[in-house]
Amino acid sequence: MNKSNLALFAILLWVISAAVFGWFFIKGNTTEIEGQRTAIMLQPAERELVLAEMRGLLGSTHGILDGLGKKDMQQVFQAASASGMGSAADVNPALMAKLPMSFKELGMSVHHAMDEIAQDAKAGKPSGEILNKLSNTLASCVACHAAWQLKSE
Ligand code: HEC
Repeated sequence: MNKSNLALFAILLWVISAAVFGWFFIKGNTTEIEGQRTAIMLQPAERELVLAEMRGLLGSTHGILDGLGKKDMQQVFQAASASGMGSAADVNPALMAKLPMSFKELGMSVHHAMDEIAQDAKAGKPSGEILNKLSNTLASCVACHAAWQLKSE
């Protein structure tokens, strides 16, 4: 193989890998089960990472409601911040590639909403407004759970 063929081959390989990565980034590593939720196939450790993040979201939801009940806005702020964008486990590129685009979007919207709730609590917004925002956010939890499940590869 001469030099220019080798370069061409390298470029071709690069284009193929970029296309495969792009495909996975949008579709994720999923299998369809008729009439059921779509399963996202993950390594056991990756699945555990996402589930730990989920338990964090549940803990934040509890902390926000508890704080609102006690009118403790500092607690609301802390509980919501704990599940903000900074807490997203999705920094691992291999895991990112396995999660479908719509899953990532829904997940990010929930983390973003938690940051907004934290800011609202800091700004001393009325509890009713924060409750509405939390309720809208929980609708995303419900929608996502209705659509997806996580299975070990
Ligand atoms: C982008 C999708 C998505 C969003 C948004 C989402 N979840 Fe999940 N969650 C999942 C999936 C998928 C599972 C695993 C379900 C399964 O495999 O049956 C899960 C599992 C869980 C679990 C079980 C954890 C465990 O250890 O087994 C809890 C608790 C949970 N989610 C809470 C929440 C809460 C609370 C919210 C919203 C504040 C939320 N989730 C938002 C997709 C999501």
